[in-house]
Amino acid sequence: MSGHGQPIPMTARASGPLKGVAEVPGDKSISHRSLILGALAVGETRISGLLEGQDVLDTAKAMRAFGAEVIEHGGGDWTVHGVGVGGFAEPGDVIDCGNSGTGVRLIMGAMATSPVTATFTGDASLRKRPMGRVTDPLALFGAQAVGRAGGRLPLTLVGAADPVPVRYVVPVPSAQVKSAVLLAGLNAPGQTVVIEREATRDHTERMLSGFGAEVSVEDTDEGRVITLTGRPELRPQTIAVPRDPSSAAFPVCAALIVEGSDVLVPNIGLNPTRAGLFETLREMGADLTYENLREEGGEPVADLRARFSPGMRGIEVPAERAASMIDEYPILSVVASFAEGRTHMPGVRELRVKESDRIDAMAVGLRANGVTVDEGEDWWTVHGRGPGGVPGGAVAEARLDHRIAMSFLILGMAAQSGVSVDDAGPIATSFPVFEPLMTRLGAVLERVDG
Ligand code: S3P
Repeated sequence: MSGHGQPIPMTARASGPLKGVAEVPGDKSISHRSLILGALAVGETRISGLLEGQDVLDTAKAMRAFGAEVIEHGGGDWTVHGVGVGGFAEPGDVIDCGNSGTGVRLIMGAMATSPVTATFTGDASLRKRPMGRVTDPLALFGAQAVGRAGGRLPLTLVGAADPVPVRYVVPVPSAQVKSAVLLAGLNAPGQTVVIEREATRDHTERMLSGFGAEVSVEDTDEGRVITLTGRPELRPQTIAVPRDPSSAAFPVCAALIVEGSDVLVPNIGLNPTRAGLFETLREMGADLTYENLREEGGEPVADLRARFSPGMRGIEVPAERAASMIDEYPILSVVASFAEGRTHMPGVRELRVKESDRIDAMAVGLRANGVTVDEGEDWWTVHGRGPGGVPGGAVAEARLDHRIAMSFLILGMAAQSGVSVDDAGPIATSFPVFEPLMTRLGAVLERVDG
C-alpha cells in the first residue's frame, strides 16, 4: 500500500507494559542501493535481509524494467543479475516509484548517463516533492529532464548519450542528491567529484567501493569531497542487509514512554551518519543501552535495550546532528512530548520536503492531542508535558507518510485517551510488520472498520 489503496484507519490505545524482542526489518536505504548497484554489476548479486516494503518492491520492479533480472526467493533473499554500468535498456512503460523519493532519485541518477529515455511518476505524495535538486546536477552530465512545474513528477529524463564528468557541490544536505550524482558518475568517463558541506548517510560511497568502484573520500575545509572514477566494471556482491535504525526508532521510543516497558531491538547498525536519534535520546536521559556492541562489515552494530524512562528532559538538539537523524524527528517529537521542558530542534528545513511536510504534520497532530508546539521555517519546539502526560484522544492525519502514521500510533500507546490515524496504509512502505510486531510487544492497535 503506498497510497493507492483504501485508507486503513487505526487507533492505538493506552498500552503496555511493552516487553520482548523487536526484530525490525532490513534497512531501507541499503535495500534500494543493493538492488540498483546489483543491476549495474555484471553477474549475480545475492541479497539477504532485503526490506520487502513497498518502496523497495517498486525499485525492484524498476530495475526489471531497465533490463536486470531480479528474483525473489522468499524470506528476504533476493538475487539480481545485473546488466553492467551503461547497460540499462529502455523501459517499455512509465516507471512508478510509488511513495519513494529515494527510489526515484537514485534511479534517475543511475540512468542519466545512459542513452535511454524513461518517464517517472509516483503517488500523490511523491508527485508533490521537488525533483529539480536531482535533475539540475544530472543536466550537467548532459541529461535532459522535462517535468511539471517546479520539476515535479511525472517527469521524463533523456539520458546523456555522450556524458561528461561533473564536479558538484550539493546545495542541500541530501544523501539522495549526493547518491544520484555518484550513480550518474558511474557511466561518465574520468572523475566525478561530489562535495557535501554536511555529512549525510554514506551508504552509497561504502557500497560503491564494495562493488569494486574507485571512490575516495576526503574531509576538507570545503566539506566532504567524494571522488569517483567513472566506467568501472562493478563486481557482483553478496550483501547481508543490516536492520534499519530508522525502523528500530519506533519500538525503542515506544518503550521509553510506555510505563513499565523493557524492549530489546537486536542487530541495529549504528553507522554514525544514521545514529543521531539514539545519542539525542541518551542526552535526554533515556534508559537506552547498547548491548553486545560489535563490528560487522566494517560498521558498528549493537542490540538496543530501551526501558521506560519517566525522568527524561527536553534538550536543544544540535543543528549539525540533523542529517544523522533526519527521518527520526517525528518520533523524537513524540518522546519530547512526554519529557519535562522544551525540546528545540533547529536546522531542519529538509523536514518540509519529505513524504509530507513533517513539521506541519506533527505540529498539527500533536496540538490536537494536547501538546504545545511552536514552529518556524527551519525549526520547531515541543513543550514537553512531563509527569502530566499527554491527553491524546484525537485523530491525526498521516498525509501518505509512513513515519507520521507510526509516530502518532506510538503517541497513542502512551497517551491517556489513545490516538487514531486516518490511514495506517503508508506504513507498509518501510515497516510492513509494524502492526504485528508492536502488538506482540503488548501494544493495543485496533483497525477501525470504515
Ligand atoms: C535517504 C536519504 C534521506 C532520507 C530518506 C533516505 C537515502 O533523504 O530522508 O529516507 O536513502 O539516501 P534526503 O536525501 O532527501 O535527505
